[in-house]
Amino acid sequence: MEITNVTEYQAIAKQKLPKMIYDYYASGAEDEWTLQENREAFARILFRPRILIDVSKIDMTTTILGFKLSMPIMISPTAMQKMAHPDGEYATARAASAAGTIMTLSSWATSSVEEVASTGPGIRFFQLYVYKDRKVVEQLVRRAEKAGFKAIALTVDTPRLGRREADIKNRFVLPPNLTLKNFEGLDLGKMDQDVKWLQSITTMPILVKGVITAEDSRLAVENGAAGIIVSNHGARQLDYVPATISALEEVVKGAGGQIPVFLDGGVRRGTDVFKALALGAAGVFIGRPVVFSLAVAGEAGVSNVLKMLRDEFELTMALSGCNSLADITRNHVVTEADKFG
Ligand code: FNR
Repeated sequence: MEITNVTEYQAIAKQKLPKMIYDYYASGAEDEWTLQENREAFARILFRPRILIDVSKIDMTTTILGFKLSMPIMISPTAMQKMAHPDGEYATARAASAAGTIMTLSSWATSSVEEVASTGPGIRFFQLYVYKDRKVVEQLVRRAEKAGFKAIALTVDTPRLGRREADIKNRFVLPPNLTLKNFEGLDLGKMDQDVKWLQSITTMPILVKGVITAEDSRLAVENGAAGIIVSNHGARQLDYVPATISALEEVVKGAGGQIPVFLDGGVRRGTDVFKALALGAAGVFIGRPVVFSLAVAGEAGVSNVLKMLRDEFELTMALSGCNSLADITRNHVVTEADKFG
């Protein structure tokens, strides 16, 4: 049966993957309220499409941190992709480059920065958790820079891991044939965050990932971040935080137009991409759709996910009367807050 949307990969991946691995990818923290809300909050936003506009040519291209992309849809870091498919991060990197977009490699990847770079050209970001041992961070950053990575996504929502009950029940461990390749031979200390120090050791721009309040948005700007990713870690950290799409406008206001704001969490449709852009995002990232499609069909699966989202987003733009990303405005959507004050 033909796969016609991104969400369909999840059910097929569930049949294909061992339970421990599927649950690790799919689950959220505790009651999974935020996990559900990441989707439901998108569903509560409605459109105000404009008509009688010539939409015969739709331009979805954009420039992010100076890099020209085919569309404002990028790939979030997700750990341990070789559990989904033997090609793991290699397949994701190839699919992202072929689609003209960015892949963010997790620091908990099962392929190293050098291995991902060896797949060929592409614009890649490296995700970093900041450890107290700055020597570890320095080594990782230097290696990523040397391997041609273009930016750091500094994940700031994980001082400790969230409580994912499925992983506790399954006694989740990385399968013995796989390793966290970027950490081979490194000694890990505790977490610590310091954007200014990190910026002093690299010329790569730093995106702060995991901001959901205006206060932290302002702090990120003051500390010299090049951008913000509104993220609740795919609802895997603190349960009962709002959906990212609900927090987006507050974070955009906090950033005061000084740096671009991106979003991840629950993006499964081209309409979701449009809604995020209408509420002020410069682009979106996707997490689980990548691991599920990877599990089902490797590189071809990830390529198909990117293509389906791209096609749906293009159609949403056309049906809303928008020719380019600049045409997408706040007036193209209505949120709950608009309706009820
Ligand atoms: C993640 N995420 C994540 N984030 C990060 O900064 N470093 C990481 O290693 C991981 N690993 C990871 C594994 C898995 C299985 C998932 C589902 C998520 C969070 C990820 O980058 C992103 O924020 C969310 O996945 C986005 O939400 P969706 O698209 O999965 O709903």
